[in-house]
Amino acid sequence: MTDAETDTLADGGTDGTMEGLEVDACERCPELVESRSQIVNGVGPGEADLLFLGEAPGANEDEQGEPFVGRSGSILDDALRDAGLARADVRITNCVRCRPPDNRDPTSEELANCKGYLERELALVDPELVVTLGKVPSEHLLERSVAVTKEAGDVVDVRLGERSYRAVVSVHPAATLYDGSQRETFFETIAHAVDLAGVGESDGGQANLGDF
Ligand code: URA
Repeated sequence: MTDAETDTLADGGTDGTMEGLEVDACERCPELVESRSQIVNGVGPGEADLLFLGEAPGANEDEQGEPFVGRSGSILDDALRDAGLARADVRITNCVRCRPPDNRDPTSEELANCKGYLERELALVDPELVVTLGKVPSEHLLERSVAVTKEAGDVVDVRLGERSYRAVVSVHPAATLYDGSQRETFFETIAHAVDLAGVGESDGGQANLGDF
């Protein structure tokens, strides 16, 4: 095990194993070990300018082993496409990698148990910009209470471990399903984030050719 891995695991115990970006095995959260069918690691390039941070896997994600593959995921995909990007161009991950029972919010202990993995993923991916999707990831990264609807689109500096990152607060894509007015906020925030990260169509993204 490298020093970096030892340091990361030191945060939450030695019962997790992480190969590069992936957590292979972890039993730190007894309830989540019961409720998950698998650990859902982040997807996307190992180095990416944009990293989207969600809360925790839901039923679809737990079944397919990939973040944001249900209805929230298709809204995120639509917003990325509108902004000139494909899903494969960005990194997508969650604060917590195992599905909580009945889709409840992760507890502060579960968030803390998984934080070392997120810290390592962010350090390796080294994004220009992190987009926090909803209240739980925004508050987890900003370490304060966040009114996501009011603060959506705000750019903030956040610290995780030894590193600082630029982040943009966003409403969760699922919020657009319950409140139509949030759809505009969400799509605008994603377009703003793509712009800030310096990626997208105007930067000659080859990945967009498939859209035509
Ligand atoms: N919501 C999240 O926060 N994360 C997912 O992976 C899916 C839905």
